[in-house]
Amino acid sequence: MTKTPAGNCDVCVVGGAGHVGIALALVLADSGFKTLILDINKAALETIAAGRLPFFEEGGEALLEKVLAGGGLAFSSDAKSVAQATFVVVTIGTPIDEFHNPEVSNLTRCFDELMPYLRDDQTILLRSTVAPGTTTYIDNYLRDRGKKTRLAFCPERVVQGKGIAEIRALPQLISGTSPEAVVAAKKLFGEIALEVVEMLPLEAEFAKLVCNAFRYIQFAATNQLYMMVEAAGLNYVGLLAKMKRHYPRMESIPGPGFTAGPCLMKDTMQLFAFQKHDFILGQVAMTINEGLPNFIVERLARQFDLRKTRVGILGMAFKAESDDIRDSLSYKLGKLLRFHGAQVFYSDEYAKDPTFVSKEELIASSDVVIVGVAHNAYRQLQIPARIEVVDLWSVLPAKERS
Ligand SMILES: NC(=O)c1ccc[n+]([C@@H]2O[C@H](COP(=O)([O-])OP(=O)(O)OC[C@H]3O[C@@H](n4cnc5c(N)ncnc54)[C@H](O)[C@@H]3O)[C@@H](O)[C@H]2O)c1
Repeated sequence: MTKTPAGNCDVCVVGGAGHVGIALALVLADSGFKTLILDINKAALETIAAGRLPFFEEGGEALLEKVLAGGGLAFSSDAKSVAQATFVVVTIGTPIDEFHNPEVSNLTRCFDELMPYLRDDQTILLRSTVAPGTTTYIDNYLRDRGKKTRLAFCPERVVQGKGIAEIRALPQLISGTSPEAVVAAKKLFGEIALEVVEMLPLEAEFAKLVCNAFRYIQFAATNQLYMMVEAAGLNYVGLLAKMKRHYPRMESIPGPGFTAGPCLMKDTMQLFAFQKHDFILGQVAMTINEGLPNFIVERLARQFDLRKTRVGILGMAFKAESDDIRDSLSYKLGKLLRFHGAQVFYSDEYAKDPTFVSKEELIASSDVVIVGVAHNAYRQLQIPARIEVVDLWSVLPAKERS
Protein backbone atom coordinates (compact mmCIF):
# COMPACT_ATOMS: atom_id res chain seq x y z
CA MET A 1 0.00 0.00 0.00
CA THR A 2 1.45 3.38 -1.02
CA LYS A 3 1.92 5.72 1.86
CA THR A 4 0.24 9.12 1.79
CA PRO A 5 2.43 12.26 1.72
CA ALA A 6 4.27 13.25 4.90
CA GLY A 7 2.06 14.86 7.55
CA ASN A 8 -0.97 12.92 6.31
CA CYS A 9 -2.15 9.48 7.32
CA ASP A 10 -3.48 6.41 5.55
CA VAL A 11 -6.33 5.60 7.92
CA CYS A 12 -8.26 7.59 10.50
CA VAL A 13 -10.13 5.36 12.96
CA VAL A 14 -13.02 7.38 14.37
CA GLY A 15 -13.81 5.93 17.81
CA GLY A 16 -10.34 4.39 17.75
CA ALA A 17 -9.93 4.54 21.53
CA GLY A 18 -12.87 2.12 21.97
CA HIS A 19 -12.89 -1.67 22.10
CA VAL A 20 -13.39 -2.28 18.37
CA GLY A 21 -11.43 0.75 17.22
CA ILE A 22 -8.21 0.17 19.14
CA ALA A 23 -7.72 -3.42 17.97
CA LEU A 24 -8.16 -2.36 14.35
CA ALA A 25 -5.97 0.72 14.74
CA LEU A 26 -3.15 -1.39 16.20
CA VAL A 27 -3.38 -4.02 13.46
CA LEU A 28 -3.45 -1.33 10.74
CA ALA A 29 -0.47 0.50 12.23
CA ASP A 30 1.40 -2.80 12.56
CA SER A 31 0.66 -3.55 8.89
CA GLY A 32 2.38 -0.36 7.79
CA PHE A 33 -0.59 2.00 7.54
CA LYS A 34 0.04 5.36 9.13
CA THR A 35 -2.94 5.40 11.47
CA LEU A 36 -4.65 8.23 13.29
CA ILE A 37 -6.92 7.50 16.25
CA LEU A 38 -9.67 10.12 16.40
CA ASP A 39 -11.80 9.91 19.54
CA ILE A 40 -13.78 12.29 21.75
CA ASN A 41 -12.53 10.47 24.87
CA LYS A 42 -9.42 12.52 25.63
CA ALA A 43 -8.56 10.55 28.78
CA ALA A 44 -8.51 7.28 26.79
CA LEU A 45 -6.34 8.92 24.10
CA GLU A 46 -3.83 10.03 26.72
CA THR A 47 -3.73 6.55 28.25
CA ILE A 48 -3.08 4.93 24.86
CA ALA A 49 -0.50 7.53 23.86
CA ALA A 50 1.30 6.74 27.15
CA GLY A 51 1.52 3.08 26.11
CA ARG A 52 -1.37 1.60 28.09
CA LEU A 53 -4.77 0.34 26.96
CA PRO A 54 -7.89 1.52 28.82
CA PHE A 55 -9.20 -2.08 28.83
CA PHE A 56 -7.98 -5.62 28.26
CA GLU A 57 -7.09 -6.69 24.72
CA GLU A 58 -5.02 -9.83 24.22
CA GLY A 59 -1.52 -8.86 23.02
CA GLY A 60 -2.66 -5.24 22.89
CA GLU A 61 -0.09 -3.48 25.05
CA ALA A 62 2.86 -5.28 23.44
CA LEU A 63 1.62 -4.31 19.98
CA LEU A 64 0.91 -0.76 21.15
CA GLU A 65 4.50 -0.44 22.38
CA LYS A 66 5.76 -1.69 19.01
CA VAL A 67 3.66 0.65 16.85
CA LEU A 68 4.28 3.66 19.10
CA ALA A 69 8.02 3.05 18.81
CA GLY A 70 7.67 2.78 15.03
CA GLY A 71 5.85 6.12 14.86
CA GLY A 72 2.89 4.56 13.02
CA LEU A 73 0.20 5.79 15.39
CA ALA A 74 -1.08 9.33 15.97
CA PHE A 75 -3.90 10.69 18.14
CA SER A 76 -6.48 13.46 17.91
CA SER A 77 -9.76 14.52 19.49
CA ASP A 78 -10.35 17.16 16.82
CA ALA A 79 -12.75 16.20 14.00
CA LYS A 80 -10.73 18.46 11.69
CA SER A 81 -7.94 15.86 11.59
CA VAL A 82 -10.13 13.46 9.60
CA ALA A 83 -9.14 15.50 6.53
CA GLN A 84 -5.62 14.00 6.71
CA ALA A 85 -6.76 10.44 5.95
CA THR A 86 -7.29 8.43 2.78
CA PHE A 87 -9.56 5.95 4.61
CA VAL A 88 -11.93 6.90 7.43
CA VAL A 89 -13.09 3.92 9.52
CA VAL A 90 -16.02 4.61 11.85
CA THR A 91 -16.18 2.39 14.96
CA ILE A 92 -18.28 4.45 17.37
CA GLY A 93 -20.92 2.88 19.65
CA THR A 94 -24.38 2.28 18.15
CA PRO A 95 -26.71 1.75 21.12
CA ILE A 96 -30.44 1.08 21.23
CA ASP A 97 -32.78 3.42 23.10
CA GLU A 98 -35.02 2.66 26.09
CA PHE A 99 -37.68 1.31 23.70
CA HIS A 100 -35.14 -1.05 22.07
CA ASN A 101 -34.96 0.95 18.84
CA PRO A 102 -31.61 1.72 17.18
CA GLU A 103 -30.20 5.18 18.03
CA VAL A 104 -29.21 6.48 14.58
CA SER A 105 -28.61 9.92 16.08
CA ASN A 106 -25.23 8.78 17.47
CA LEU A 107 -24.04 8.17 13.94
CA THR A 108 -25.56 11.28 12.39
CA ARG A 109 -24.06 13.41 15.18
CA CYS A 110 -20.65 11.90 14.44
CA PHE A 111 -21.06 12.50 10.69
CA ASP A 112 -22.20 16.08 11.36
CA GLU A 113 -18.91 16.67 13.21
CA LEU A 114 -16.83 15.10 10.43
CA MET A 115 -18.85 16.57 7.51
CA PRO A 116 -17.01 19.91 7.05
CA TYR A 117 -13.68 18.08 6.74
CA LEU A 118 -14.64 15.10 4.57
CA ARG A 119 -13.22 15.08 1.05
CA ASP A 120 -14.72 13.54 -2.06
CA ASP A 121 -11.59 11.45 -2.68
CA GLN A 122 -11.79 9.72 0.71
CA THR A 123 -13.46 6.39 1.52
CA ILE A 124 -15.50 5.98 4.69
CA LEU A 125 -15.72 2.45 6.06
CA LEU A 126 -18.58 2.12 8.49
CA ARG A 127 -17.60 -0.66 10.92
CA SER A 128 -19.98 -0.19 13.85
CA THR A 129 -22.85 -2.67 14.00
CA VAL A 130 -25.89 -1.05 12.41
CA ALA A 131 -29.57 -1.84 11.81
CA PRO A 132 -30.59 -3.00 8.32
CA GLY A 133 -30.83 -0.02 5.98
CA THR A 134 -28.49 2.24 7.98
CA THR A 135 -25.70 2.25 5.36
CA THR A 136 -28.16 3.51 2.73
CA TYR A 137 -29.47 6.05 5.25
CA ILE A 138 -25.95 7.37 5.91
CA ASP A 139 -25.19 7.35 2.18
CA ASN A 140 -28.26 9.55 1.58
CA TYR A 141 -27.24 11.71 4.57
CA LEU A 142 -23.86 12.39 2.92
CA ARG A 143 -25.28 12.96 -0.60
CA ASP A 144 -28.02 15.28 0.72
CA ARG A 145 -25.22 17.43 2.16
CA GLY A 146 -23.32 17.55 -1.10
CA LYS A 147 -20.64 14.98 -0.22
CA LYS A 148 -19.34 12.50 -2.80
CA THR A 149 -17.16 10.63 -0.28
CA ARG A 150 -17.29 6.87 -0.99
CA LEU A 151 -19.11 4.80 1.65
CA ALA A 152 -18.45 1.15 2.51
CA PHE A 153 -19.90 -1.02 5.28
CA CYS A 154 -17.49 -3.62 6.68
CA PRO A 155 -18.79 -5.00 10.00
CA GLU A 156 -16.57 -6.14 12.86
CA ARG A 157 -17.13 -9.78 13.83
CA VAL A 158 -14.29 -10.45 16.25
CA VAL A 159 -14.69 -11.62 19.82
CA GLN A 160 -14.02 -8.78 22.23
CA GLY A 161 -10.57 -9.05 23.81
CA LYS A 162 -9.16 -11.18 20.96
CA GLY A 163 -9.57 -8.61 18.20
CA ILE A 164 -5.91 -8.36 17.24
CA ALA A 165 -5.63 -12.06 16.43
CA GLU A 166 -9.10 -12.41 14.92
CA ILE A 167 -8.96 -9.39 12.57
CA ARG A 168 -6.07 -11.17 10.85
CA ALA A 169 -7.47 -14.69 11.12
CA LEU A 170 -11.11 -14.26 10.06
CA PRO A 171 -12.70 -13.39 6.71
CA GLN A 172 -13.78 -9.75 6.47
CA LEU A 173 -17.23 -8.96 5.09
CA ILE A 174 -17.06 -6.10 2.57
CA SER A 175 -19.87 -4.04 1.08
CA GLY A 176 -20.27 -0.57 -0.36
CA THR A 177 -22.79 1.84 -1.81
CA SER A 178 -20.77 2.06 -5.06
CA PRO A 179 -18.34 -0.24 -6.89
CA GLU A 180 -15.56 2.27 -6.13
CA ALA A 181 -16.28 2.02 -2.39
CA VAL A 182 -16.07 -1.79 -2.57
CA VAL A 183 -12.75 -1.63 -4.44
CA ALA A 184 -11.31 0.78 -1.85
CA ALA A 185 -12.55 -1.33 1.11
CA LYS A 186 -11.04 -4.45 -0.47
CA LYS A 187 -7.74 -2.65 -0.90
CA LEU A 188 -7.58 -1.82 2.81
CA PHE A 189 -8.88 -5.07 4.32
CA GLY A 190 -7.14 -7.18 1.68
CA GLU A 191 -3.90 -6.14 3.41
CA ILE A 192 -4.87 -7.29 6.90
CA ALA A 193 -7.65 -9.93 6.80
CA LEU A 194 -7.38 -13.63 5.90
CA GLU A 195 -9.80 -13.07 3.00
CA VAL A 196 -12.58 -10.68 2.05
CA VAL A 197 -16.16 -11.71 1.31
CA GLU A 198 -18.06 -9.29 -0.87
CA MET A 199 -21.76 -8.70 -0.35
CA LEU A 200 -24.47 -6.03 -0.56
CA PRO A 201 -24.67 -3.48 2.30
CA LEU A 202 -28.03 -4.89 3.42
CA GLU A 203 -26.56 -8.42 3.42
CA ALA A 204 -23.56 -7.27 5.46
CA GLU A 205 -25.84 -5.50 7.96
CA PHE A 206 -27.95 -8.64 8.35
CA ALA A 207 -24.90 -10.91 8.45
CA LYS A 208 -23.52 -9.18 11.53
CA LEU A 209 -26.87 -9.01 13.30
CA VAL A 210 -27.79 -12.62 12.47
CA CYS A 211 -24.44 -13.82 13.91
CA ASN A 212 -25.16 -12.10 17.23
CA ALA A 213 -28.90 -12.81 17.39
CA PHE A 214 -28.32 -16.50 16.66
CA ARG A 215 -25.78 -16.76 19.47
CA TYR A 216 -28.14 -14.92 21.81
CA ILE A 217 -30.97 -17.35 20.95
CA GLN A 218 -28.67 -20.38 21.41
CA PHE A 219 -27.70 -19.19 24.90
CA ALA A 220 -31.36 -18.53 25.71
CA ALA A 221 -32.27 -22.08 24.67
CA THR A 222 -29.73 -23.61 27.03
CA ASN A 223 -30.60 -21.13 29.80
CA GLN A 224 -34.28 -22.03 29.63
CA LEU A 225 -33.44 -25.74 29.74
CA TYR A 226 -31.12 -25.01 32.68
CA MET A 227 -33.98 -23.40 34.64
CA MET A 228 -36.31 -26.32 33.86
CA VAL A 229 -33.83 -29.05 34.81
CA GLU A 230 -32.59 -27.25 37.94
CA ALA A 231 -36.17 -26.58 39.09
CA ALA A 232 -36.71 -30.34 38.84
CA GLY A 233 -33.88 -30.78 41.36
CA LEU A 234 -31.13 -31.91 38.96
CA ASN A 235 -27.75 -30.47 38.05
CA TYR A 236 -27.96 -29.20 34.47
CA VAL A 237 -24.22 -29.03 33.77
CA GLY A 238 -23.83 -32.59 35.06
CA LEU A 239 -26.70 -33.65 32.84
CA LEU A 240 -25.11 -31.95 29.81
CA ALA A 241 -21.83 -33.76 30.41
CA LYS A 242 -23.55 -37.17 30.53
CA MET A 243 -25.86 -36.33 27.63
CA LYS A 244 -23.03 -35.12 25.37
CA ARG A 245 -20.72 -38.07 26.04
CA HIS A 246 -19.84 -39.65 22.68
CA TYR A 247 -22.94 -38.07 21.17
CA PRO A 248 -21.84 -35.70 18.36
CA ARG A 249 -25.31 -34.26 17.66
CA MET A 250 -25.27 -32.47 21.02
CA GLU A 251 -21.69 -31.21 20.81
CA SER A 252 -22.76 -27.65 19.98
CA ILE A 253 -25.14 -27.09 22.91
CA PRO A 254 -23.58 -24.36 25.06
CA GLY A 255 -23.51 -24.42 28.86
CA PRO A 256 -25.78 -22.08 30.84
CA GLY A 257 -24.73 -18.68 32.11
CA PHE A 258 -25.45 -14.98 32.18
CA THR A 259 -25.75 -13.79 28.58
CA ALA A 260 -25.33 -10.06 28.33
CA GLY A 261 -22.73 -7.45 27.40
CA PRO A 262 -22.83 -4.58 24.95
CA CYS A 263 -23.63 -6.55 21.77
CA LEU A 264 -25.77 -9.70 21.84
CA MET A 265 -29.01 -8.29 23.31
CA LYS A 266 -28.64 -4.93 21.55
CA ASP A 267 -28.13 -6.56 18.17
CA THR A 268 -31.03 -8.97 18.67
CA MET A 269 -33.20 -5.95 19.48
CA GLN A 270 -32.01 -4.19 16.31
CA LEU A 271 -33.55 -7.07 14.34
CA PHE A 272 -36.62 -6.96 16.60
CA ALA A 273 -37.10 -3.25 15.76
CA PHE A 274 -36.44 -3.89 12.06
CA GLN A 275 -39.04 -6.67 11.94
CA LYS A 276 -41.65 -4.19 13.28
CA HIS A 277 -41.44 -5.84 16.69
CA ASP A 278 -42.40 -9.25 15.31
CA PHE A 279 -39.29 -11.32 16.00
CA ILE A 280 -40.68 -13.77 18.54
CA LEU A 281 -37.50 -15.83 18.95
CA GLY A 282 -35.42 -12.75 19.67
CA GLN A 283 -37.99 -11.35 22.07
CA VAL A 284 -38.29 -14.62 23.98
CA ALA A 285 -34.50 -14.99 24.07
CA MET A 286 -34.30 -11.60 25.79
CA THR A 287 -36.97 -12.58 28.32
CA ILE A 288 -35.10 -15.79 29.17
CA ASN A 289 -31.56 -14.39 29.29
CA GLU A 290 -32.57 -11.28 31.22
CA GLY A 291 -34.76 -13.42 33.51
CA LEU A 292 -31.95 -15.71 34.71
CA PRO A 293 -30.95 -13.46 37.66
CA ASN A 294 -34.62 -13.40 38.76
CA PHE A 295 -34.69 -17.21 38.69
CA ILE A 296 -31.62 -17.37 40.95
CA VAL A 297 -32.95 -14.78 43.39
CA GLU A 298 -36.39 -16.42 43.62
CA ARG A 299 -34.80 -19.79 44.41
CA LEU A 300 -32.58 -18.25 47.09
CA ALA A 301 -35.53 -16.35 48.56
CA ARG A 302 -37.32 -19.69 49.07
CA GLN A 303 -34.27 -21.10 50.83
CA PHE A 304 -33.09 -18.11 52.92
CA ASP A 305 -34.43 -15.05 54.68
CA LEU A 306 -32.58 -12.71 52.35
CA ARG A 307 -32.89 -9.81 54.80
CA LYS A 308 -30.51 -11.75 57.04
CA THR A 309 -28.29 -13.13 54.27
CA ARG A 310 -24.91 -11.95 53.02
CA VAL A 311 -24.41 -12.73 49.34
CA GLY A 312 -21.13 -12.46 47.42
CA ILE A 313 -21.05 -12.23 43.63
CA LEU A 314 -17.82 -13.54 42.13
CA GLY A 315 -17.28 -11.88 38.77
CA MET A 316 -18.80 -8.60 37.62
CA ALA A 317 -17.55 -8.52 34.00
CA PHE A 318 -20.07 -9.55 31.36
CA LYS A 319 -17.89 -12.44 30.23
CA ALA A 320 -14.97 -14.56 31.40
CA GLU A 321 -11.38 -13.24 31.28
CA SER A 322 -12.62 -9.72 30.48
CA ASP A 323 -12.67 -6.45 32.43
CA ASP A 324 -15.74 -5.16 30.55
CA ILE A 325 -18.71 -4.64 32.87
CA ARG A 326 -20.99 -3.10 30.24
CA ASP A 327 -24.55 -4.49 30.60
CA SER A 328 -23.30 -7.30 32.85
CA LEU A 329 -26.11 -9.30 34.47
CA SER A 330 -24.09 -9.59 37.69
CA TYR A 331 -25.21 -6.03 38.45
CA LYS A 332 -28.86 -6.87 37.82
CA LEU A 333 -28.46 -9.84 40.15
CA GLY A 334 -26.92 -7.59 42.82
CA LYS A 335 -29.73 -5.05 42.51
CA LEU A 336 -32.42 -7.74 42.83
CA LEU A 337 -30.73 -9.21 45.91
CA ARG A 338 -30.46 -5.80 47.57
CA PHE A 339 -34.10 -5.13 46.76
CA HIS A 340 -34.91 -8.32 48.68
CA GLY A 341 -32.89 -6.98 51.63
CA ALA A 342 -29.69 -9.00 51.24
CA GLN A 343 -26.28 -7.57 52.00
CA VAL A 344 -24.33 -7.92 48.75
CA PHE A 345 -20.58 -7.94 48.00
CA TYR A 346 -18.99 -7.69 44.55
CA SER A 347 -15.61 -9.01 43.42
CA ASP A 348 -13.86 -9.28 40.07
CA GLU A 349 -10.46 -10.41 38.86
CA TYR A 350 -10.10 -7.83 36.09
CA ALA A 351 -12.69 -5.05 36.45
CA LYS A 352 -11.55 -2.43 38.94
CA ASP A 353 -13.88 -0.65 41.34
CA PRO A 354 -13.00 0.72 44.79
CA THR A 355 -16.20 -0.83 46.20
CA PHE A 356 -15.19 -4.36 45.14
CA VAL A 357 -13.61 -6.75 47.63
CA SER A 358 -11.08 -9.51 46.96
CA LYS A 359 -12.43 -13.01 46.28
CA GLU A 360 -10.98 -14.20 49.59
CA GLU A 361 -12.67 -11.37 51.50
CA LEU A 362 -15.92 -12.05 49.68
CA ILE A 363 -15.88 -15.73 50.62
CA ALA A 364 -15.04 -14.92 54.24
CA SER A 365 -17.97 -12.47 54.50
CA SER A 366 -20.73 -14.40 52.64
CA ASP A 367 -23.42 -16.95 53.48
CA VAL A 368 -24.11 -17.46 49.76
CA VAL A 369 -21.61 -17.17 46.91
CA ILE A 370 -22.87 -16.78 43.35
CA VAL A 371 -20.49 -17.10 40.42
CA GLY A 372 -21.38 -14.20 38.11
CA VAL A 373 -18.82 -15.04 35.46
CA ALA A 374 -16.47 -17.98 34.95
CA HIS A 375 -13.06 -16.31 35.33
CA ASN A 376 -10.27 -18.91 35.39
CA ALA A 377 -9.12 -17.60 38.77
CA TYR A 378 -12.16 -19.28 40.35
CA ARG A 379 -11.31 -22.77 39.13
CA GLN A 380 -9.15 -23.62 42.13
CA LEU A 381 -11.11 -21.63 44.68
CA GLN A 382 -11.97 -23.54 47.86
CA ILE A 383 -15.35 -22.58 49.29
CA PRO A 384 -16.09 -23.68 52.88
CA ALA A 385 -18.97 -26.18 53.16
CA ARG A 386 -21.02 -23.75 55.32
CA ILE A 387 -21.50 -21.52 52.25
CA GLU A 388 -24.32 -22.09 49.78
CA VAL A 389 -22.92 -21.91 46.24
CA VAL A 390 -24.74 -20.98 43.04
CA ASP A 391 -22.41 -21.82 40.18
CA LEU A 392 -24.25 -21.87 36.85
CA TRP A 393 -21.02 -22.47 34.97
CA SER A 394 -19.70 -25.24 37.28
CA VAL A 395 -16.42 -23.36 37.37
CA LEU A 396 -15.71 -24.00 41.07
CA PRO A 397 -14.12 -27.31 42.06
CA ALA A 398 -17.34 -28.70 43.58
CA LYS A 399 -15.88 -32.02 44.73
CA GLU A 400 -13.03 -30.35 46.55
CA ARG A 401 -15.28 -28.13 48.63
CA SER A 402 -14.04 -28.21 52.23
N1 LIG B 1 -17.29 -4.63 21.66
C1 LIG B 1 -17.29 -5.62 20.78
O1 LIG B 1 -16.81 -6.71 21.01
C2 LIG B 1 -17.89 -5.42 19.40
C3 LIG B 1 -17.72 -6.43 18.44
C4 LIG B 1 -18.22 -6.22 17.17
C5 LIG B 1 -18.90 -5.05 16.89
N2 LIG B 1 -19.08 -4.09 17.85
C6 LIG B 1 -19.74 -2.85 17.48
O2 LIG B 1 -18.72 -1.86 17.32
C7 LIG B 1 -19.20 -0.59 17.73
C8 LIG B 1 -18.31 -0.02 18.82
O3 LIG B 1 -18.36 -0.85 19.95
P1 LIG B 1 -17.27 -0.72 21.11
O4 LIG B 1 -17.54 -1.83 22.06
O5 LIG B 1 -15.92 -0.58 20.52
O6 LIG B 1 -17.71 0.66 21.77
P2 LIG B 1 -16.81 1.58 22.71
O7 LIG B 1 -17.76 2.41 23.47
O8 LIG B 1 -15.81 0.75 23.43
O9 LIG B 1 -16.01 2.50 21.69
C9 LIG B 1 -16.58 3.55 20.97
C10 LIG B 1 -15.61 4.71 20.94
O10 LIG B 1 -16.16 5.73 20.09
C11 LIG B 1 -15.86 6.98 20.68
N3 LIG B 1 -16.79 7.95 20.09
C12 LIG B 1 -18.13 8.07 20.30
N4 LIG B 1 -18.63 9.08 19.56
C13 LIG B 1 -17.60 9.59 18.87
C14 LIG B 1 -17.47 10.65 17.92
N5 LIG B 1 -18.53 11.37 17.56
N6 LIG B 1 -16.25 10.92 17.40
C15 LIG B 1 -15.16 10.22 17.79
N7 LIG B 1 -15.22 9.20 18.68
C16 LIG B 1 -16.41 8.89 19.20
C17 LIG B 1 -16.01 6.74 22.17
O11 LIG B 1 -15.35 7.73 22.92
C18 LIG B 1 -15.37 5.35 22.30
O12 LIG B 1 -13.98 5.43 22.56
C19 LIG B 1 -20.65 -0.81 18.15
O13 LIG B 1 -21.47 -0.60 17.04
C20 LIG B 1 -20.68 -2.28 18.53
O14 LIG B 1 -21.97 -2.84 18.44
C21 LIG B 1 -18.57 -4.25 19.10
